[in-house]
Amino acid sequence: MAVRTIIRMGHPTLRLPARPLRPNEIGSEAIRQLLGDMRDTLKDEGGIGLAAPQINEPVRLAIIEIPGGASRYGTLEPMPLTVFVNPRIEVIDPATAGCWEGCLSVPGLRGFVERPQHVRVTFDTLQGEPAMLELSGFPATVVQHEFDHLDGKLFVDRITDLTKLVFEDEYKRYIEP
Ligand code: NI
Repeated sequence: MAVRTIIRMGHPTLRLPARPLRPNEIGSEAIRQLLGDMRDTLKDEGGIGLAAPQINEPVRLAIIEIPGGASRYGTLEPMPLTVFVNPRIEVIDPATAGCWEGCLSVPGLRGFVERPQHVRVTFDTLQGEPAMLELSGFPATVVQHEFDHLDGKLFVDRITDLTKLVFEDEYKRYIEP
């Protein structure tokens, strides 16, 4: 396993739709290794989510781990490390809420993005079994952010008021409660 380089906004891979994993690939050694690299990379960066395209692997695979307690996103309910293979999102309630998002592929910036706060995620597990999660609040925002990466989208595309795209340092100084 290894810490991989996270590609940044401007790298063409971040703008391509990623391809689904085939059933016979899901449990393969190659995918196991890729996931190990994704875990190592996420841990090294101290992020909460990483999509495979962010390490220049254009496949529909993402991991999310939300540590509980205080964070730069406020006080959070924990979410254990979860692997999402070929995920799809369905909005259960279209009511949105805003969050100051950041992204390892857009370092140093934060942007205010509004997204639905109640979604259902269907995906495959590493065993190739179908799974489903219903998520509300911050975890709903996180899955939408991560799965956007699988469609070549970045959070900056979702900012409707560009006065709310700011540098991290200025965010901490002027905006963070
Ligand atoms: Ni991101």
